[in-house]
Amino acid sequence: MNKKTVRDIDVAGKRVLVRVDFNVPLEKGQVTDDTRIRAALPTIRYLMDHRARVILMSHLGRPKGGPSDDLRLEPVARRLSELLGKEVRYVRDCIGPEVEAAVQALGEGEVLLLENLRFHPEEEKNDPAFAAQLAKLGDIYVNDAFGAAHRAHASTAGIAQYLPAVAGFLMEKELTFLGKALEAPERPFITILGGAKISDKIGVIRNLLSRVDRLLIGGGMANTFLKAQGYEMGDSLVEEESLDTARELLQAAGGKLRLPVDVVIADRFDNDAERRVVKVDAVPAGWRVLDIGPATVEAFRAELANAKTVVWNGPMGVFEFPNFAAGTFAIAETLASLPATTIVGGGDSVAAVQKAGVAYQITHISTGGGASLEFLEGRTLPGVAALLDR
Ligand code: 3PG
Repeated sequence: MNKKTVRDIDVAGKRVLVRVDFNVPLEKGQVTDDTRIRAALPTIRYLMDHRARVILMSHLGRPKGGPSDDLRLEPVARRLSELLGKEVRYVRDCIGPEVEAAVQALGEGEVLLLENLRFHPEEEKNDPAFAAQLAKLGDIYVNDAFGAAHRAHASTAGIAQYLPAVAGFLMEKELTFLGKALEAPERPFITILGGAKISDKIGVIRNLLSRVDRLLIGGGMANTFLKAQGYEMGDSLVEEESLDTARELLQAAGGKLRLPVDVVIADRFDNDAERRVVKVDAVPAGWRVLDIGPATVEAFRAELANAKTVVWNGPMGVFEFPNFAAGTFAIAETLASLPATTIVGGGDSVAAVQKAGVAYQITHISTGGGASLEFLEGRTLPGVAALLDR
């Protein structure tokens, strides 16, 4: 990674303003998945140990136009306190006199979490005056919010105009793993793409085709490719408007792309629907594809057996329905067993490796959904571009 990190600057005694991605799920005032909070701990602990005054800022959800009590970061401050074993202070705004006073009162090695940045609409507008008000709170800016790095917002991009800006350890780790996969992967390099829509992944497919040795495609998006090859897909989700693009990508892939050979079909969109396994040329009218079939799992496994680098984004079927989860879980388990660098990104595939109980056997689980996809598309992430070059 060619960006400066917290290791490159002296933070002792300084007010260090850290953008984190604490956009975590909450239920009844409790954090239900603290993965993103845990992922930021190395940077926070490093700063505490190096006597910085640590000021954390994040967005949470997508509040519309102003504060809303269910999107306050107070439960996150509580969870972070538990994880650090040390009190994390919390203030109910992210700019203004009350916040400035809280920063003033912060001692070396202490941590303060500001309120949800998106309670101010200026955050998402990347408003320079708002960015300047945030910047006033710190001497140094650290971006550790890889998950929000694809957003050009005040706290991810604009603020870097006003403060020396460096990467945190999570940001560094994400860019290192994903960057190496794109630029210098150990080969064979295989990507597995799934999820409902091909339209969400066209940019990724285009960018990856020249880089991967194999591209395995499953999930709803495979239906559009299969239809483009002339198969009838019954009532399956098919993006008719993307059929031409699918044909063009199949052509460009020159044999690198692998599609399902069999599928699990259902007579309705329901876990308890009647189901059958059929070859892809035998999907009857009125039925829909909800998972890849066992022969496809075997074929994908055989492709993956010798891989040295694997990137996986998107489930192989509707794995929220236990009766249609076998394909997705089989891929999760296969990845877990490979002697390869395995990288999983995207909310659904991350949830799948967690549900399958194999997350600890994956080399790198990205904390970025949209951000990891945009990175794989080869796009410059504004939150990364804003950081100082090494
Ligand atoms: C995410 O959850 O992908 C990030 O936190 C970004 O959130 P956003 O899509 O609301 O900008």
